[in-house]
Amino acid sequence: MANVIVIGAQWGDEGKGKITDLLSRSADVVVRYQGGNNAGHTVVVGDRTFKLHLIPSGILYPKTECIIASGTVIDPQVLLEEVDRLRTLGISTDNLFIAETAHVTMPYHRVLDQASEEQRAEHKIGTTGRGIGPTYADKSERVGIRIIDLMDEKRLAKKLRWAIEQKNIVLQKLYNLEPLDAEAIIEEYRGYADRLRPHVVDASLKIDDAIRERRNILFEGAQGTLLDLDHGTYPYVTSSNPVAGGACIGAGVGPTCIDRVIGVAKAYTTRVGEGPFPTELHDEIGAQIGDRGAEFGTTTGRKRRCGWFDGVIGRYAVRINGLDCLAVTKLDVLDDLDEIKVCTAYELDGKVVRDFPSDARAFGRAIPIYETLPGWKQSTSECKTVEELPQAAKEYLKFLADLTGTPIAIISLGASRGQTIIVEDPIHGPKRGLLRA
Ligand code: IMP
Repeated sequence: MANVIVIGAQWGDEGKGKITDLLSRSADVVVRYQGGNNAGHTVVVGDRTFKLHLIPSGILYPKTECIIASGTVIDPQVLLEEVDRLRTLGISTDNLFIAETAHVTMPYHRVLDQASEEQRAEHKIGTTGRGIGPTYADKSERVGIRIIDLMDEKRLAKKLRWAIEQKNIVLQKLYNLEPLDAEAIIEEYRGYADRLRPHVVDASLKIDDAIRERRNILFEGAQGTLLDLDHGTYPYVTSSNPVAGGACIGAGVGPTCIDRVIGVAKAYTTRVGEGPFPTELHDEIGAQIGDRGAEFGTTTGRKRRCGWFDGVIGRYAVRINGLDCLAVTKLDVLDDLDEIKVCTAYELDGKVVRDFPSDARAFGRAIPIYETLPGWKQSTSECKTVEELPQAAKEYLKFLADLTGTPIAIISLGASRGQTIIVEDPIHGPKRGLLRA
């Protein structure tokens, strides 16, 4: 058995959905440990495309149990829409479980998220507007409503009446908005509770049972390392901990049960929302990468900002997450380029810096120092082995492995399951491989 964490090594949208889908094949349990429906995974199976926000991609495998754990925040309306959509497509959700201790996103969280962003004007974070930050804020404030509250009609009504009374003061006095109707919301959420009830469990206990039964568990991170509340580009971050350490807290397991940590990184870099991005391209090449890579957010449809691969970020992700190996995605997007740049260090206030600056303002002043590598100018999307890759593509990957000091175990060359090269088994693989530093 092996328990594996899969995390995003950049700013999210690295293609974790496809990698977790691939690894879910040998997983008995897939656990989503943080975030909410700010995330979005696109999984392509044959000619069908699945867009999931809350439900782990493991749901596509009939025997895999999928757990939305305690560290997540759940918008029941969105979750039930996903359940319905999957059922219409003939995919069972009987194996979906949700933690009774996860927090619930309420209509006032969505309204407050959008209102506060509007008020911040040029200081806005560029959130997804899904109410994620305010849900986590209520959790820390200890006034949140959890799934367990949703399961108790009386407790829900009492808690919601009080919460909405408080939120309405803020909505009216601070944002000049209409108050919300508590009774209508109580009624709406009562309906969700009835539908969610069969899926509600003590998630930590369920995961512990799986550990004791020596079943394979895949912990699926949402967003990415640089969006981490503690270790990302604060304040331009999300409100949870997507890094590998977040898996233990969010799922309710001890660190000793984790065997491997896999980081997913694009062969270039993208970011949505505001905040510094040293290798961002504002030219034709950036637009070309965005077009070829279909770089639009799964959740909001926003255009993603595109740039070169950043080795400083890569090394940082290895350090913060303790990565064992990397899965490099979307290599095929670079197929047409004459040359490809990779950032190896920053020039910061006249000094060469190789480590990620923890102050986002310093990070904002960082000027990338690039190494230029030749492009391969041929299609890679049909390559099935490392040997079939053009020499320049192999050298590019080897360069990334050397720069990050981390082996590349998986290469993804397109959206479909078949467009993947497994360089070495990312979970049980040998310690020496082709694309090793
Ligand atoms: P929030 O998570 O909606 O509060 O948004 C905070 C920041 O995280 C914004 O910059 C969002 O664009 C970004 N973000 C949240 N979820 C994702 C994701 O799944 N992929 C990429 N960026 C995300």
